[in-house]
Amino acid sequence: MSLPKTAKYQAYDIDVEEVGFLMEVMSMLGLQNQVSVDTGDILSDSFEYADVVFLFKLLPCLEHQAKNYIEIVLKQMCKFLVISYPIRSLSGKSRGMKDFYTREFRRQFAEYKGNIKQLLFPTEAVFIIEK
Ligand SMILES: C[S@@+](CC[C@H](N)C(=O)[O-])C[C@H]1O[C@@H](n2cnc3c(N)ncnc32)[C@H](O)[C@@H]1O
Repeated sequence: MSLPKTAKYQAYDIDVEEVGFLMEVMSMLGLQNQVSVDTGDILSDSFEYADVVFLFKLLPCLEHQAKNYIEIVLKQMCKFLVISYPIRSLSGKSRGMKDFYTREFRRQFAEYKGNIKQLLFPTEAVFIIEK
């Protein structure tokens, strides 16, 4: 992303191994001073304000962890929430995933009255929620 040098990028994952891997990647790319990587559980930790919060392919995992996960997702302090869902399996098959996750998103966020945009990529369906 062509962000200004002063832009702060913070990445979190609940999985310690994933965090270690991301730290190594950032270091290899020479981005370790611009990007902080840490363990974090979106369901129980608090995060500082960010202009944009990216939650890529996370929601299908959260639905198995807490009933009120949509409420927690909407409480993140940010201007935009960018939520994505996978629409192709690892083997490349789509098996109706786009329609399934689009319906799921619409159902889960049915009460949300703010502005929502949808983008479609070959492997992910993306929803941008303006708060
Ligand atoms: C399907 S992977 C997507 C990884 C990455 N965002 C991407 O787009 O490739 C889902 C990730 O969510 C992480 N995760 C699952 N539950 C979480 C939680 N409660 N808080 C933070 N991260 C979580 C998993 O460890 C995993 O790395």
